[in-house]
Amino acid sequence: MIGVLVSGEGTNLQALLDAGLPVVAVASNRFAAPALTRASCATAAFELTDFPDRAARDAAMADWLEQQGVRLVVLAGYMHLLTPAFLDRFPDAVVNVHPSLLPEFPGAHAVEEQLAAGVGESGATVHLVDEGVDSGAVLAQERVPVLAGDTAETLHERIKSVEHRLLPEVVRELCAR
Ligand code: GAR
Repeated sequence: MIGVLVSGEGTNLQALLDAGLPVVAVASNRFAAPALTRASCATAAFELTDFPDRAARDAAMADWLEQQGVRLVVLAGYMHLLTPAFLDRFPDAVVNVHPSLLPEFPGAHAVEEQLAAGVGESGATVHLVDEGVDSGAVLAQERVPVLAGDTAETLHERIKSVEHRLLPEVVRELCAR
């Protein structure tokens, strides 16, 4: 049973849903995340301002996901770091998708930073999540060309089209274990 964490648009969540994967819960750090409207399963928002600190928020989010029967957590555009209060609850069972060839260009502005650096090649990475910024073990990676005239939008769309195939593939394999 899969729980998905989202912060934004949710196109990767949509790819997981379209792949027929058993998503039972979707949580966000933002009440206003458009992604929350995509799922017909249980949804919840855990805003930092509603908790004394990040660990308390993460513990509450882990409690809620466990109550929904979640065993595997997928970060699909979730833009907050997770603390041990969350990660210790799902050991080796939290994965993230990221728009670069990690360990190159971790962080929240990977696409813009790759264009600014003038790289000829970008990519999509699915990796295990640890306490660092996009730093856990890589599970799958695929290259994406950077084309002349690319903007952050056009490059990100090209990367996302790969993410939408790669993420469900990896999640399906993890579910089969
Ligand atoms: C995706 O490209 C994902 O790789 C990226 O946010 C986007 C979310 O799009 N994640 C990160 O940058 C994490 N560091 P979505 O909300 O449409 O799935």
